[in-house]
Amino acid sequence: MARVFAVVNQKGGVGKTTTAVNLASAFAASERSTLLVDLDPQANATSAFAGYTAARHVYDAIIGRCVMKEVVQPTELAYLHLVPSGRDLYGAEIELVSAFSRERRIERGLADLRDAYDLVLIDCPPSLGLLTINALTAADSVIIPLQCEYYALEGLAGLLETVDLVRDQLNPSLALEGILLTMEDKRNNLCRQVEREVRAHFGDRVFRTAIPRNVRLSEAPSHGKPVILYDIHSKGAVSYLRLAEELLARTGLERSAAAPLLPGVPPPGAPPAASAEAEPGEGAAGGPAPTEEIRALDVTAPMPGGEDE
Ligand SMILES: Nc1ncnc2c1ncn2[C@@H]1O[C@H](COP(=O)(O)OP(=O)(O)O)[C@@H](O)[C@H]1O
Ligand SMILES: [Mg+2]
Repeated sequence: MARVFAVVNQKGGVGKTTTAVNLASAFAASERSTLLVDLDPQANATSAFAGYTAARHVYDAIIGRCVMKEVVQPTELAYLHLVPSGRDLYGAEIELVSAFSRERRIERGLADLRDAYDLVLIDCPPSLGLLTINALTAADSVIIPLQCEYYALEGLAGLLETVDLVRDQLNPSLALEGILLTMEDKRNNLCRQVEREVRAHFGDRVFRTAIPRNVRLSEAPSHGKPVILYDIHSKGAVSYLRLAEELLARTGLERSAAAPLLPGVPPPGAPPAASAEAEPGEGAAGGPAPTEEIRALDVTAPMPGGEDE
């Protein structure tokens, strides 16, 4: 059974999508079969992978036009599948208002997919509306990206209250997996101060790994690639690989045996060329996960300070 993480923060621009895309890719690169669910109508996680202009996407599954399995797409990374999003999803919050079990659409959609993956990551929109509630209801735990800046903690209390509310009402086993410091700049005093305060206040609920501000992370989506396929030696890539290691170690997730096949989608690990339905985009170079290259990287070595932009 996959472990399901929701990447949540009602603030925009804090690094949710960057985290969902690159953490999912880092899991996939370590050969854990991973599903990334784009639950933001802006579809940034979808466009981070070249060539996905799927006719059907997560909205169709949410409103019951099809089952979630039918919208799963392969990606350039052999162990990573994607549930794409699109602009129709803007309507879902309103359309579902009076719908039966409206908070459980994603949970139900994922029910028959969880056996096929080791990990599922859900990228949430910048709000605490019905879509985010759906993600929290479906998730085992929550990852909260927090940008190292003055207003970082603003809104966090409200977010944690929402998590508590969902735990009380809808999903008793929902846990806080951790707070992730993003866009860290060690040369910036304010950033260091925010980091100290967050760590003092939240202790071990803050991931040891922080994500540095790194221009490669912001460039990669425009090339339709996760950062490990764009520049695997960048600090951004290495820090997401480290975060994946930290998470796998703390959740005790062992590598699973070959996951069962999903009809219509190649099994995680199959070369993308074998996919029947995939429409590789222009940027897709194909080929297996860059696992060898990642094994050769020492992700435990200390990273040089400062920014590399
Ligand atoms: N660690 C980082 N270093 C540099 N740029 C980043 C970093 N994380 C995110 N960004 C950039 O910041 C912007 C907002 O990030 P994004 O992940 O889309 O946030 P959210 O999904 O929370 O709205 C994007 O342009 C992204 O490329
Ligand atoms: Mg986003």
